[in-house]
Amino acid sequence: MAALLGTDLFHLGEPRTGKVREVYDLGDQLLIVTTDRISAFDVVMGNGIPDKGRILNQMSAFWFEKFAEDVPHHMISIDDTAVADVVGSYRSELAGRCMVAKKARPLTIECVARGYIAGSLFKEYRKDGGKVHGFNLPDGLHDGSRLPEPIFTPATKAEEGHDENISFAQAEDMVGSEVAAQVRDWTLKLYSQAAEHAEKVGLILADTKFEFGLTDRGLIWIDEALSPDSSRYWEANLYHPGGAQPSFDKQYVRDYLETLDWDKTSPGPVLPEDVVLNTRAKYVEAFERITGRTFVN
Ligand SMILES: Nc1ncnc2c1ncn2[C@@H]1O[C@H](COP(=O)(O)OP(=O)(O)OP(=O)(O)O)[C@@H](O)[C@H]1O
Ligand SMILES: [Mg+2]
Repeated sequence: MAALLGTDLFHLGEPRTGKVREVYDLGDQLLIVTTDRISAFDVVMGNGIPDKGRILNQMSAFWFEKFAEDVPHHMISIDDTAVADVVGSYRSELAGRCMVAKKARPLTIECVARGYIAGSLFKEYRKDGGKVHGFNLPDGLHDGSRLPEPIFTPATKAEEGHDENISFAQAEDMVGSEVAAQVRDWTLKLYSQAAEHAEKVGLILADTKFEFGLTDRGLIWIDEALSPDSSRYWEANLYHPGGAQPSFDKQYVRDYLETLDWDKTSPGPVLPEDVVLNTRAKYVEAFERITGRTFVN
């Protein structure tokens, strides 16, 4: 079982390479290839998780389809034949891990919904209190506490390092009031419905990040949809606020990294085989519980 760490579709031009995905610009469409790379603490590990890219691509497709009536999205197809058409030939290493999408002009904000407080927002809350960025959070929340109701916490897109949380007013300044209100409403609607779905299969969707973009036919939902890379999923049975919650998908990786004397800068270490296999099993499990389908190798 080999992990796909990169692509070489040179005839399509130079891709935009993120930590996990490679995006080829096809004119008015994009080819988004999800590799098997895995990152932790924002650093890509030395090896990959076989099939992770296929699982995440198919999970995104599941959510885009599920909410297609509620929010227009960028997905055109994830079929291998449609991919072969744009690539020019069938490539087995790309099977199941590509999405052909409508190209949009991405908004300059990231749209985050949170039903629980964790990560960057908890750090800011602890330091600056419940009114941070104009939010209205109650006193006495712990790391991982459930919020009284889900909130929209927009962020700027940082080229390097972490995105920065901003107020809704700042988001309005960046994208305009009308667009800001629309993406806030979509973000909260998508989050609530997805969290409800996750709860039915024993998962907590603590928070998730969406991106939206402008096209000639209006705003659409772009990028990925509620994948473990853009969302915090927790095992409901293990939920215990008052500290960092175990990550549903990356806990084996984090636990292993804790045993190393690694300074959390690039290059990332190579993960041992048992960590790779256990992590792969978590991605398969997340896919199967969320979609109700069997993951086909
Ligand atoms: N339909 C679309 N039209 C235009 N741009 C898109 C579309 N879908 C996704 N994108 C953009 O493609 C890029 C995907 O990049 P990717 O997620 O791989 O890396 P990144 O966001 O730069 O970094 P990271 O690895 O931290 O996620 C994002 O910049 C996203 O805004
Ligand atoms: Mg990204």
